[in-house]
Amino acid sequence: MRILSGIQPSGELHIGNYFGMMKRMIEYQENHELFCFLVNYHALTTVFEPERLRRKTLEAASDFLALGIDPEKSIFWVQSDVPEVTELTWLLSNVTSMGLLERCHAYKEKISRGITPNHGIFAYPVLMAADILMYGANKVPVGKDQKQHVEVARDIAIRFNSTYGETFVVPEEEIPEEVATIPGLDGQKMSKSYDNTIPIFCKEKELRKRIMSIKTDSTPVDQSKDPDKSALYEIYALFLDKQERAVLRDRFLTPGLQYGVVKQELFARVWEFFKPYRDKRDEYLQRPDTVRDILRYGAKKARAIGSEYLMKARHNVGVDY
Ligand code: TYM
Repeated sequence: MRILSGIQPSGELHIGNYFGMMKRMIEYQENHELFCFLVNYHALTTVFEPERLRRKTLEAASDFLALGIDPEKSIFWVQSDVPEVTELTWLLSNVTSMGLLERCHAYKEKISRGITPNHGIFAYPVLMAADILMYGANKVPVGKDQKQHVEVARDIAIRFNSTYGETFVVPEEEIPEEVATIPGLDGQKMSKSYDNTIPIFCKEKELRKRIMSIKTDSTPVDQSKDPDKSALYEIYALFLDKQERAVLRDRFLTPGLQYGVVKQELFARVWEFFKPYRDKRDEYLQRPDTVRDILRYGAKKARAIGSEYLMKARHNVGVDY
């Protein structure tokens, strides 16, 4: 089973990214073929400062390495180090209908927020399909916000195979219910575009400030609280085992709970949870050349597999006269 997923190096990685995708990827590398990459071509749709993109790419790589991606067990690289993926994007574009892309929520949502769409934003799902199909991935672990994009990749694979003959593996998304949509500080989906994130790695003071600002309702202290309507509960639950979760639920349901106290506890828990990785991350950040070497090593392995699919596609469409 081949498992693949990518992440944009366009901002600080947050716990939505961690629980929605990174954690599972790190676990999968133990007994599956894992493809994990930083999608800097995709980030170009929103980042227009080259130096920032370079820095964010190295930071995201350091985050992932510190959290446990092992470049020997998995294939870990930067999208643009295998630029052939853009050629495959073009080959796929011609079996992709405009309607399919026009229906994409992420595209529609950007337009509704007043962002003037460029062609990159519109064609984004085709590049993502190329990412997935180029490496023959069976399973794509993502959060719910990426479900439709993986479905587009499926549609494109099916359409390509029926037009040109069997070429690509038809992929499937993997979205466990409990981590499909991690809420942010305001209860909406956690996202860097809403500025409501809890970063995995930030300064202690900043982390405390963010956690203390999680939005809660105005139920008086002496009444019971509804854990199922609480972002605070949902976020805290991510860091607890089953038994601890039941205890927290009970505390919510029992009159007397003070949200402020729970937030302080959550802060301590999150700080401790990521503590073992913080020093490792700093080490990687201080050795950018080592990180570059690791990424280039991964790109070599990715290219070897990717070019096989690309060659097959080139042949099947007939550009190899
Ligand atoms: P990106 O960079 O926005 O997010 C990376 C991963 O984190 C998940 N995620 C969440 N999951 C649950 N709750 C949240 N609040 C939350 N926020 C983010 C995302 O669902 C994603 O899995 N288009 C992709 C990157 C991409 C890709 C690919 C993914 C490019 N090519 C090929 C898979 C396969 C994206 O922008 O993810």
